[in-house]
Amino acid sequence: MAVRPLGARGIYSALKAQIGAGVYRPGAALPSTRALAAELGVSRTTVTAAYEQLLSEGFISGRQGARARVAAIPAGPRPEAARDGAGQARPGLSRYGERVAETVLPARPPSSARLVADFRYGDLAAADFPSDIWKRAVTMAARRRPQRLSYDAPAGAQELRQALQAYLWRARSLRCEMDQIVIVNGSQQGLDLCARLLLEPGGSFVIEDPCYGMARQVFAAAGGIAIPVEADQDGLRTDRLAGLAARLAYVTPSHQYPLGGVMPVARRLELLAWARRCSGCVIEDDYDSEYRYDIAPVPPLYALAEGNEIIYLGTVSKALSPTIRLGYLVLPPALAPVFTTAKALADRHAPGLEQHALTILLESGAYERHVRRSRRRNAERRATLLAALSCRLGDRVTVAGADAGLHVVVWFRDIAAAREPDFVALGRVKGIGVYPIGPLYMHADAAARPDMAGLVIGYASVEPQEIERGVAILAELVGAFSTEPPQP
Ligand SMILES: Cc1ncc(COP(=O)(O)O)c(C=O)c1O
Repeated sequence: MAVRPLGARGIYSALKAQIGAGVYRPGAALPSTRALAAELGVSRTTVTAAYEQLLSEGFISGRQGARARVAAIPAGPRPEAARDGAGQARPGLSRYGERVAETVLPARPPSSARLVADFRYGDLAAADFPSDIWKRAVTMAARRRPQRLSYDAPAGAQELRQALQAYLWRARSLRCEMDQIVIVNGSQQGLDLCARLLLEPGGSFVIEDPCYGMARQVFAAAGGIAIPVEADQDGLRTDRLAGLAARLAYVTPSHQYPLGGVMPVARRLELLAWARRCSGCVIEDDYDSEYRYDIAPVPPLYALAEGNEIIYLGTVSKALSPTIRLGYLVLPPALAPVFTTAKALADRHAPGLEQHALTILLESGAYERHVRRSRRRNAERRATLLAALSCRLGDRVTVAGADAGLHVVVWFRDIAAAREPDFVALGRVKGIGVYPIGPLYMHADAAARPDMAGLVIGYASVEPQEIERGVAILAELVGAFSTEPPQP
């Protein structure tokens, strides 16, 4: 399709925006009408008409025959435009926009085919995805849908909410009403809605230290002030909550991310008591509860709560695929309507076809069969990883959080925490993708972080043979970095 050249109005608008953004500062000369006309491929008359409009509004000054210059005090308010790190102007951003602009998302180095093993947490093996089952479900969902294409309910398809209500009771001993469920585009959107609806700019929130970075960042973008509270091998240190000036907490009690602790019941009760005392709210992120290996499943915190203090968050990102972007909130009844409205304002509703396909999987039992299959595969990967670490690195490493989920944390006894970035960088050169734990800490209590390098090792996308080869490289790396010689 041919690109239509800008008209006088378009040129006027573009120049006005550039003046407003400080691209052309007061006193600066604009391009000559001849040069700009040639550059844009329009007639000189068109450019002249645009300049005349700017002149008549006081944005530029210019005598007959002289180059047009930006007026010393251009008409209208011209707030100082914010600039990004590269000096580019960022006109018109709200305070929220500014905070988002300052947010540095976790680096995702491109997954390279050259890597022997990429232990990137969050990825699943493509071969584990139940393609045929999903394809059939999508086809059935497309057939089942009515003739007329119209918007769905903002809280999600009723059939899916019903199917999830039954699933949560079967799989998680979580009893709720269908009306408490709001379907979201993955946990991340659930967190974003919580941040917008429950946090004032300048308000505080409690977060585990170390923590899931995308949760901390979404609350911080909403203007929240993080109060990091140490997490240990049993999850959040609830004994540290007393007296904190916050009414919102984000926790991962079934499998603390990243350290892997399962919160014992005494701490759960303490956390609930804290929420009740401050009339606050706890967001329970139950992100990987499908994967339990040597331990019995623990019911969620939600199942212990009596009142309205828990918002439960689930996702299909670990059981099916992170790209499907479906998750769900289970809300206190009083909050469900406002979350539903916020969801409608954000994007009307989650994609309908995918919602109906997921309903079919849940109703037919295919979802749970797939979860069982996936759990077996990941149990095998996990066993291979633990055996390889033990065989190649023995007591030079400590492994945490292996009882559940799709990742472990590995601590390296002989390598200082400060060397983590170099360790990770050399790992890439040698052919393994490994990821440091350092960025997940906020250092509430510097002494709480062991002074040794630590890695978050995700294994759900790595096949057992690759895991073995990857750990062999890791062991060589440890040899190169530590003072003691590697074990044979
Ligand atoms: C702690 C935690 N929560 C939630 C998620 C999943 O997020 P989503 O449902 O947005 O894919 C992850 C994924 O890695 C996670 O680690």
